[in-house]
Amino acid sequence: MNLSNNKILITGGASGIGLGLTQRFIEENNTVIICGRRESVLNDVKAQFPSVITKICDLTVEAERIALYEWVKENHSDLNVLINNAGIQKWVSVSDAGFYESMKSEINTNIEAPLHLTSLFIELKSLTTVMNVTSGLAFSPFAKIPVYSATKAFFRSFTLSLRHLLKEKNIEVIEIIPPALNTDLGGVGLHDAHPSVADFIVAIFEQLKEGRNELTFGTSETRLNASVPELKAHFEALHSN
Ligand SMILES: NC(=O)c1ccc[n+]([C@@H]2O[C@H](COP(=O)([O-])OP(=O)(O)OC[C@H]3O[C@@H](n4cnc5c(N)ncnc54)[C@H](OP(=O)(O)O)[C@@H]3O)[C@@H](O)[C@H]2O)c1
Repeated sequence: MNLSNNKILITGGASGIGLGLTQRFIEENNTVIICGRRESVLNDVKAQFPSVITKICDLTVEAERIALYEWVKENHSDLNVLINNAGIQKWVSVSDAGFYESMKSEINTNIEAPLHLTSLFIELKSLTTVMNVTSGLAFSPFAKIPVYSATKAFFRSFTLSLRHLLKEKNIEVIEIIPPALNTDLGGVGLHDAHPSVADFIVAIFEQLKEGRNELTFGTSETRLNASVPELKAHFEALHSN
């Protein structure tokens, strides 16, 4: 994709990885629209980057996904990039009391919402690019976040098919595959030990410039290229105590 002069919707673009993408795409001379549930967080980003366009939206609500699409179609019909970044992560065991409810919200946010948004936004004549944020856990799960890991494996699988399916519409599909990074995902402090979003953004923009369609960093590059025995060994090592 061209890195400049796009109009881009970034779901969850007000924090963490989404905010890193927002900042960099603004610096690269793009128009950026961000959405999320928390108005105050959206307003903070607007104060920092006045050109950003914000929209409050709960993507777990089907009607709000449709309303977001209708609003974009009405007001930003030249939108050409959709970035499915919003996601949640629950540290939960299958035997926990709240497992079923927690599982439903994770599947809704991490799978239903981006798939539904994709099906809506590819109707925009201007759309040229879909970017999906998956995870290094798509290749080998972490059992403390079992549903989250599985949603990312699902989303990667769907992304591979989507790339094939959208060729006929001339829509490029790019997968962003972060490793664990220092954001508030799953709860404040849980990811403090991991690399910064800033370093990750620098690395993936280099790969975008090279024309890659699977963007990785550190351990997610290793996972992407690992053999099945290597992935099994990684899983065993991660769960050895
Ligand atoms: N950080 C990591 O280690 C890591 C690793 C691999 C992949 N990822 C993926 O990267 C993406 C971004 O995560 P992050 O690490 O940047 O965490 P984050 O800071 O918690 O960002 C998640 C964003 O998603 C938005 N969001 C969540 N539920 C939403 C909903 N129902 N409707 C609208 N927006 C919603 C949040 O905004 P509101 O709360 O305001 O709605 C927030 O801005 C996720 O897909 C995550 O799975 C992260």
